Amino acid sequence: MSNGENRSDTVKKHKDYLFPSVAMYYQDPIALDHGEGMYVWDESGNKYLDCFGGVLTTSVGHVHPHVTEAIIDQVGKLNHASTLYANRPQSVLAEKLAEITPGKLEKSFFTNSGTEADETATMTAKLYTGRQEIITLRHSYSGRSAAAQSATGHSTWRLLPSQVPGYVQAVAPYCYRCPLKLTYPECDLACAKDLKELIETSTTGKIAGFMAEPIMGVGGFITPPKEYFKEAVAIVRQFGGVFICDEVQTGWGRTGDKMFGIEHWGVEPEIMTFAKGMANGSPIGATIATKEVAAAVPTLTFSTFGGNPVTMRAAMATIEVIERENLAHNAKVVGDYLRERLMGLQERFDVIGDVRGMGLMQGIEFVKDRKTKEPNPQAVLKIFEETRKHGVLIGKGGLFGNVVRLGPPLIATKDHIDELVTALEKALEK
Ligand SMILES: Cc1ncc(COP(=O)(O)O)c(C=O)c1O
Repeated sequence: MSNGENRSDTVKKHKDYLFPSVAMYYQDPIALDHGEGMYVWDESGNKYLDCFGGVLTTSVGHVHPHVTEAIIDQVGKLNHASTLYANRPQSVLAEKLAEITPGKLEKSFFTNSGTEADETATMTAKLYTGRQEIITLRHSYSGRSAAAQSATGHSTWRLLPSQVPGYVQAVAPYCYRCPLKLTYPECDLACAKDLKELIETSTTGKIAGFMAEPIMGVGGFITPPKEYFKEAVAIVRQFGGVFICDEVQTGWGRTGDKMFGIEHWGVEPEIMTFAKGMANGSPIGATIATKEVAAAVPTLTFSTFGGNPVTMRAAMATIEVIERENLAHNAKVVGDYLRERLMGLQERFDVIGDVRGMGLMQGIEFVKDRKTKEPNPQAVLKIFEETRKHGVLIGKGGLFGNVVRLGPPLIATKDHIDELVTALEKALEK
């Protein structure tokens, strides 16, 4: 299909037959047709540089040949097993996760999404501790199940009032908009220290755990001070809770030089969750825990599609590409360059209040006025439409929809970044 009519037919059918809540980006939504590496094409043949990767999911580039070959090979061999039978791709991937994740993480459970990965993690923490309450962060995102929405600290994504009791949201380490109106480092990490009072006042004092993202993705790439997690997790452990690290967005080299975001912060979790970029676009969720914690899930647990051999091969092939091509380091080098170029834009354009993130996970927070920091979601909408005209796709986030999120595939080069920044620059000038 390569004409405008067909493209709008796809979008029309999307609007006619999907839940109206399945919103698409852009006034005139894009129907994607195919992709290769850093680029995607719509049904009219328009080419776009993909700087969002389907929400940080196309980690090694669209239709990576190594991943595609692994998928095709496995589809021709064994397409499905269920967790009732062992399958080699699952066993091999689980062994690999035990090897490359930090600390004593050893036992994995595979599912189909980040929602399920987080849900498995919180259930496991509750069973391990024999307690029910979980602390999460304001501005966090955990997914779309009843429990995941209750964990999420973001009203946009909570469609019903708290559906699962026991989730309590702590103040976020959101330095640009400090909830405690303090400034780092003079604040002495007051947001982390507040966890003590939160646990003492808003829970039974006997918590099961703390679930947090090393950098908050949907929240707008909120990046905590480097000492935040050490301080916060120490308090959580004083109260007998475990630390669940949600690496759904920050995993697989995204943050630069380290395979997992939490490795920058020097804390070893008892449980870690993955999804998105782990299999370069094949549906996957994974929860890994220490031997002791995993053993607390007492009897049977099952997932029809969890550990699917084709998805497992896709994940293993993705990890092989990340390791072989040293993409975590590329994310650091090219991410630093992106950051430098964005800081240059910040100097020129007053609507940019903050630039933050790590590696190839960089956010730009737009404001109406740098002093009042009033959010400027209208500017983001305009930037979206203009960058699209220049053939560049970007993402957005933040509680107010005023943060542009940039999370290109980890194979991005400085030339791709120049292409992106030129589009942003032209959009900002306009
Ligand atoms: C940090 C984080 N956790 C969990 C999820 C849920 O993942 P999924 O959409 O695969 O259910 C997301 C999705 O954006 C996420 O960003």
